[in-house]
Amino acid sequence: MSILVTGGVGYIGSHTAVALINAGYEVVIADDLSNSKQEVLNRIKHITGQCPKFYRIDVCDLTALDQVFRNEAIDSVIHFAGYKAVGESMSDPLKYYRNNLDSAISVLETMQKYNVINFVFSSSATVYGIPKTAKIKEDFPIHPANCYGKTKAMIEEILIDIASANPKMNIAILRYFNPIGAHPSGLMGEDPNGIPNNLMPYITQVAIGKQKELHVFGNDYQTKDGTGVRDYIHVCDLANGHLAALKKLETGCGLVTYNLGTGTGYSVMDIIETFEKANHIPIPYVIDPRRPGDIDEYYSDPQKANEELHWKATRTLIDMCADSWNWQMNNPNGYV
Ligand code: UFG
Repeated sequence: MSILVTGGVGYIGSHTAVALINAGYEVVIADDLSNSKQEVLNRIKHITGQCPKFYRIDVCDLTALDQVFRNEAIDSVIHFAGYKAVGESMSDPLKYYRNNLDSAISVLETMQKYNVINFVFSSSATVYGIPKTAKIKEDFPIHPANCYGKTKAMIEEILIDIASANPKMNIAILRYFNPIGAHPSGLMGEDPNGIPNNLMPYITQVAIGKQKELHVFGNDYQTKDGTGVRDYIHVCDLANGHLAALKKLETGCGLVTYNLGTGTGYSVMDIIETFEKANHIPIPYVIDPRRPGDIDEYYSDPQKANEELHWKATRTLIDMCADSWNWQMNNPNGYV
C-alpha cells in the first residue's frame, strides 16, 4: 500500500510519514522544500530505518505530479502541502488562494485520472472562526476570519462537491487544533523560518537564548488567567490521527470530518509554567497588547474522532513541553 504524502517534509507531514512507515505503509513524499529541509528525509530514515521515496516537485505542477502517479502505485493521498502563515495570508491573500487551492485541485484531478479514491485533507480549527462556544464540535458553523482559514474552508467545500459527484470517493477532513511537541528521539520537530509566529517555537527559542523574552499577547481575555486558551496537541498524537483516518477510509466511509485535539484548553500562562516545570528552565516574559485577530478561548470536542476513529490523544502537556525542548536543544539551528 503506497501512501502519497504531499508536504511530507514539513512539520506534521514528517511525523505522519514516520507513523505510516512504522505501521507498515510504503510512503511516497512529494514536497517542493519551499518551507522545509531535505535533511528531514535523513531523520525519517534514522528513526524508521527506511527512506521514503521522495519527489521534489511543486504539486501544482500537473505534469510533475502525473509522473509520480505513473511511477508509483498510489492507494491513498494525505494532502498537507500548502502555505500556513495566518499573518502572511492577510497581507498576500492571492499567494494563498493561488497556491493552496491550486495544489489541492491538482492533487484531486490527478487522483481522479488514476482512480485513486482515498484522500485525507489537512484542515484546521481556524475554519470555525469565532465559535459559538469555546468547546467546538464538527457541526459548528464555518466562518474563518483569515485568508489561510478561508483557503481551508474553500477546499472543504470542494471536497463536499467531489464526494457528492463521486460516491466512491472516501475523504477525511481533519481539523487540527494547535500542534506542538516533537518526535521523542529529538531528531524531528518544528523548524520555523525566522522569528516564530507560534507560541511553542517562540518559547523554545527563549529557552535556548535566541529570543530574549516571550511576548504574551494580552492578559485581559475572558479566560481563567486572562491569557489566550488553546487546545495543544502533541504532533505524534496528531500523526496517529492520520493513520486512524486512513483506516476509516479503507472501510469505504464516504466523506467524514473530525476535530483532532485533546479536548482540553490551556492558557499561555499554563504553557509557560508547564514548560518551566518539565524542563527546569525559566521563561522570562512580558505582557504585550493583544495580537489582532486572536480569539480568547477555544478547544476541541474530540468525541467524534474518539468514537468513530478509535483514536485519542494520549500525550500530556508535560510530554509536549519536554519533547519540544528536547528537539530545540538537540537542534539549536533546526535542520541546518
Ligand atoms: N501567543 C503569545 N505569544 C506568542 C505567540 C502566541 O502570547 O509569541 C499566544 C496567542 O495570543 C494565543 C496562543 O499563544 O493565545 C497560541 O498562539 P499560536 O500563534 O501558537 O496559535 P494560534 O492559536 O494563533 O493559531 C494556530 C496556528 C493556526 C491554526 C490554529 C488552529 O498558527 O495556523 O492554531 O487552531 F489555524
